[in-house]
Amino acid sequence: MPNQYAVIGNPIEHSKSPAIHSAFARQTGQDMVYGRILADLNQFAETVRAFIAAGGKGLNVTVPFKEQAFALADQLSERAQAAGAVNTLIASHGGLHGDNTDGVGLVRDLAERHQFDFTAKRILLLGAGGASRGVLLLLLQTHPANIMIANRTLGKAQDLAKLTNDERVSAGGFDELKGQSFDLIINGTAAGLQGEVPPIPASCLAQGGWTYDMMYASEPTAFVRWGRQHQAGKALDGLGMLVEQAAESFDLWRGVRPETESVMQALRAAE
Ligand code: ATR
Repeated sequence: MPNQYAVIGNPIEHSKSPAIHSAFARQTGQDMVYGRILADLNQFAETVRAFIAAGGKGLNVTVPFKEQAFALADQLSERAQAAGAVNTLIASHGGLHGDNTDGVGLVRDLAERHQFDFTAKRILLLGAGGASRGVLLLLLQTHPANIMIANRTLGKAQDLAKLTNDERVSAGGFDELKGQSFDLIINGTAAGLQGEVPPIPASCLAQGGWTYDMMYASEPTAFVRWGRQHQAGKALDGLGMLVEQAAESFDLWRGVRPETESVMQALRAAE
């Protein structure tokens, strides 16, 4: 019987992960199947345990269960600890290992697919929730000059900045962005769910600076449109991050790194 994997979340029907991992498996000749599991909101741990007990080898974890997966894992990687969240579970003899591949997914998409050079860059990270926390450690490892976290609720940005214990990280409200400028602005807020953009001044995007929305949709997101309107060098959405975090999970499970560009193109063409 092929090894079993799945993505678990609620809701789950629109997840692209089964299509992505099935493409990776075909491409690399891995004997595995990858499905989707809808877990009841109060049955996450039981659902994971049942899947592993039935022989499941690994799971991707999505909204709203990443923090619960963090609590459930027997061991955690450094990047999962920093993120406070787990998006990849690996079943092993020693128990459940929890990792987080979101940050590496974002950095690889920018650095490898789009050739963004992070060195000495000024980065603005919008939002201080799970999405921002999930990528902060990996962003700090790219040798930026500094990272400012700006959030609607100032206290949450300050708490997240403190958590890194890194003097390159600062925190502020959106009203503090006037007169500052950044080479890369990453949107980790949920504002896009309402078709909104955080209230930031256009002047905070440096000339030729890039914008990146960690969300993606079949249409350009509100933040991608904002980047285009303000002549961003590139205005990217999160589809590349999604495919790259999946590739990293696949590598953790199978020890094989799939090629991602063809999978990206197939997903864009299917939209
Ligand atoms: P996630 O796990 O997706 O990051 P979250 O933890 O609920 O979700 O965080 C959502 C983030 O989006 C927060 O930073 C939130 O700001 P607050 O901390 O002030 O709540 C931000 N956010 C949500 N809607 C927003 C909006 N319309 N404008 C600006 N920021 C918004």
